[in-house]
Order: sequence, then C-alpha cells, then structure tokens
Amino acid sequence: MPLRSILAGIGAYLPERILSNDELAARLDTSDAWIRERTGIRQRHIASPRESCAFMATEAARAALTSAGAVPADVDAILLATATPDQAFPATALRVQAALGVPGGFGFDLSAACAGFVYGLSVADAMIRAGQVRGVLVIGSEVYSRIMDWNDRGSCVLFGDGAGAVFLRAGEGSGSIDRGILSTHLHAQGSLGDILYVDGAVGLRDKPGTLVMNGREVFRHAVVRLSEAVDEALAANGLSRRDVDWLVPHQANLRIIEAMGKRLGLPSERVVVTVDRHANTSAASVPLALAEAVADGRIRGGDLVLMEALGGGLTWGSALVRM
Ligand code: COA
Repeated sequence: MPLRSILAGIGAYLPERILSNDELAARLDTSDAWIRERTGIRQRHIASPRESCAFMATEAARAALTSAGAVPADVDAILLATATPDQAFPATALRVQAALGVPGGFGFDLSAACAGFVYGLSVADAMIRAGQVRGVLVIGSEVYSRIMDWNDRGSCVLFGDGAGAVFLRAGEGSGSIDRGILSTHLHAQGSLGDILYVDGAVGLRDKPGTLVMNGREVFRHAVVRLSEAVDEALAANGLSRRDVDWLVPHQANLRIIEAMGKRLGLPSERVVVTVDRHANTSAASVPLALAEAVADGRIRGGDLVLMEALGGGLTWGSALVRM
C-alpha cells in the first residue's frame, strides 16, 4: 500500500486583542460599512508584543499534537510558513522545536505569503510519501500587524494575526477509505511580484518594510487563478464538483470566497468562512479556518475538503484532503 499523509491533528491560536472596524474608522478615513461591504471583514485579532510568530505557532502546534494524541518525540520535521518570522535566523520553526521540546528531526521556514500553508502541506506530503519522515508539523503563523502601513486604508483594514497548525502522520492508503492528502498543486508567477509585496526586509537595516498592494489587480488574479486551481485539483483526482464536501479557502475577501463557492456549485453552508472575524491572516488563514470547522463538528472524518490559497509572489495552489 502506498504511504499517505494523514491529517491526524489540528490546532489554532488567535491573539486576545480584537480590533474592530469602528476602531479603525476612528483613526482612518474608512468606515465599518465600507469594510464589511467590500471585504466581509468585521474585526481582526492583533498580537501583543508577547504574542510573537514563534509563540503563536507553538500554541497552535501544541494543540495540533494534542488533538492527534501525539507527543513531541513523534515530530520528525517542522515546516513553518510565514512572511513575518521573528528573526532572519534561526528559523522560527526551530524556536517552535525548542519550545515544544521536540528532541530531534529538522525544521525550516517557508516563504510563500498567503499560499504558504498549502505550499507547506505539499512539501510535507512529498517527504512523507518518499518515506523520509513519518510525523510532520505544518504551521502557518503570521503577525502582519507588524508589517502594515497603518495609514494605508487600502491594505491595513484587510489583515490580522494568528496561527494554525496540522500534524501529518504517515499512514497506509487503502482503496476504499483513501484518507489523507490526495493531491496538492503549486503555482507561482514571479512577474506579478509587484502587485503585492513588502517594500523592505530584515536584511535592510533601516527598512524592515511595510506591505504594499494593488488590491484591484490582486482581486482580479485571485478569482482567475483560484478558479483554475479548483478545476485542476478535481481533474487530477477524477472527481466532480459534487464530490467535494467542504471548501476551506484562503480568507482574504468574502467576495473572492463566494466566487469560489459558486464555481464549485457548493451551498454557502459548505464553504468555511472566518474572514469576518479573523480578516486575512495570510499563511495562517487556511489552517485557522480548518481548525474552526473541525472543532465545531462541521467537518468530520471521511469528508472531502478542498483548500486553496493565493498570495504575494504571486503564489497559489490547492490541497485536496480526505479527513
Ligand atoms: N475605506 C474606504 N475607502 C477605501 C478603503 C477603505 N478602507 N480602501 C480603499 N478605499 C477607496 C479607494 O481609495 C477607492 O477610492 P477612489 O475610487 O476615490 O480612488 C475606492 O475605495 C474603491 O477602491 P477599489 O480598490 O476599487 O475597491 P475594491 O472594491 O477593489 O476593494 C479591496 C478594495 C482591497 C477590498 C479589494 O480590491 C480586494 O479585496 N482585493 C484583494 C486583496 C487581497 O485579497 N489581498 C490579499 C491577497 S492574499
């Protein structure tokens, strides 16, 4: 039987502090009505100084291990997707390794912006199928509040902080109950790097950088690329739209999410939405949404879940998972 990556556990962490649209409107030329209407966002969580990328990732990863009934010694690798690491190095993944007490293995950070979690799932799945590792933590953790231009109403209203994690375990696939990751597809188009980027880096001493975005362009590409990604995932597995139980999309804008749901012909109750409360948490958004729908019992064992995401790069991709 071929090896498969079973999604054995899932966890999430959100900062305590909630920032409402009205609070933003009190200091920016915007309004709760505008933000809700154009994006579906009502609020976002904002990390305190204590809630670093590593701290939130560790909390989410610990919860994922607990829900999998796993212990730190079961972790062979930690893949942490983030655009907002705490340090240039060591990798935030290794801060998590130390904080969890994982005794060995390896880990690294992965930079693919909002598509980072799907990228992480893909890399982890390939390593598991190759027999290189048996237990992998894939984490998305982001503190975009620290790279926001808080005077740019076109971008700062859209993002929030948080972390989500899954624990993948190698398992035997079986013909009838093919649990686990069925497929992943990754894409990138570097020539579109200038429609969504951070205009600095840790390596530039006086310019850590803030996020710059051409929202209209990103929106246009997101709808086209994610539609293609959805079709590609189904075709690669010989499945039809009717086979998908749940869409767990990247949470950037409710209008993009609804367009993807329509593409799949899914009723809105089969599309997991957290953007209203979390805003866009970049690499954390898909695992946060998945964690919520698993925790409240909507997504159950055996369900077919399609995840998709697109982010700065451009990067985009999908993961099709039988829970
Ligand atoms: N409050 C009030 N007005 C705002 C605003 C805000 N927070 N942000 C922008 N505006 C204004 C603009 O300045 C513009 O005014 P103008 O016509 O006088 O120039 C007007 O609203 C319309 O702007 P536009 O950019 O056309 O709005 P939109 O309907 O495209 O919505 C986004 C803007 C950013 C919400 C939308 O483009 C979007 O969600 N894009 C995708 C972003 C995304 O997903 N990024 C992350 C991908 S990982």
